[in-house]
Amino acid sequence: MPENRPENRIFSGIQPTGNLHLGNYLGAIRNWVTLQDSFESIYCVVDLHAITVPQDPQQLRQSTREVTASLIAAGISPQRSILFNQSRVPQHSQLAWIFNCVARLGWLNRMTQFKEKAGKNRENATVGLFAYPTLMAADILAYRATHVPVGEDQKQHLELTRDIAQSFNMNYGVEFFPLPEPQIFGSATRVMSLRDGGSKMSKSEASDNSRINLTDDDNLIAQKIRKAKTDPDALPSQVEGLAGRPEAQNLVGIYAALADSDVETVLREFGGRGFGDFKPALAELAVAKLSPMGREMRRLLANPGDIDAVLDDGAARAEAIAAPIIEQVNEIVGFLGPVGRR
Ligand code: TYM
Repeated sequence: MPENRPENRIFSGIQPTGNLHLGNYLGAIRNWVTLQDSFESIYCVVDLHAITVPQDPQQLRQSTREVTASLIAAGISPQRSILFNQSRVPQHSQLAWIFNCVARLGWLNRMTQFKEKAGKNRENATVGLFAYPTLMAADILAYRATHVPVGEDQKQHLELTRDIAQSFNMNYGVEFFPLPEPQIFGSATRVMSLRDGGSKMSKSEASDNSRINLTDDDNLIAQKIRKAKTDPDALPSQVEGLAGRPEAQNLVGIYAALADSDVETVLREFGGRGFGDFKPALAELAVAKLSPMGREMRRLLANPGDIDAVLDDGAARAEAIAAPIIEQVNEIVGFLGPVGRR
């Protein structure tokens, strides 16, 4: 196996904007924790992506530490995995520029996340927001990562990453980049808002009642579940009975994921019972699973110096992998390198 061409290398990222929520946890982070035991895993707090929309600098620094603390509290080991913030490893930006010269406007124009985030006033969106997916491709391919654990909403970006990798390889007549595989698994790959089963649970949703944050205390978690939108019917005993009932489907999916079970099993237990029974059971389960993480995160944040030390160490280890890969990319592209390495 040539150097830096691993058979399996995991890479994934998360934005340091606001609190982590249940969707991030069940859709992605929980899987990151599992994968780090079997694979070389690199996890990145993507602060360069965060500034594609306006950020307060002080707040961005704080959020970067908070998200890092949440990841550690959720079970990411900074020793077993590499955990760092994106802006510390300049190779991400360098490769993103090269990929800006590979990706086509037409490909980026199809990205639904850009359309959602830019909203009606597209002319006013930053160029960075438009080019967001090329930076994401660079994040992954700067490590020649082969597998990318994400929630359902990132699937389109992963397809674009594969297109960029393939185009680069074709344009330059090389077999340099792998075509990374998205890993979307578990029973909650798309956790929906608690206020509207038709829209995704998200940090950017205005109502805090729409999501459960990993920092919420026990009372708040229980209250948000009590207030979650539902329909008046009892739960069905079969999965097919959830069709056309997005809120019920979402809450049952969350229960199944938190209980490490599946939807069939949950419905076997709760089928025929109303939300008056189901919601307290879900609240109890959510509190039992989430509140230890919130506590651990707060404990870690009491020593921000320790968090910074983790990120320092992670950045050094990440750069040690990415730097030689980007040197090879520069050579493939035809950039004149330093004397002695031409
Ligand atoms: P971000 O910060 O929006 O979300 C981080 C991870 O959480 C998942 N996720 C969800 N999963 C299920 N249900 C939800 N409601 C939900 N909301 C979020 C996301 O799918 C993601 O896996 N573009 C990425 C960050 C990124 C990245 C990368 C990811 C930058 N570079 C390279 C992978 C590889 C993002 O905005 O994630």
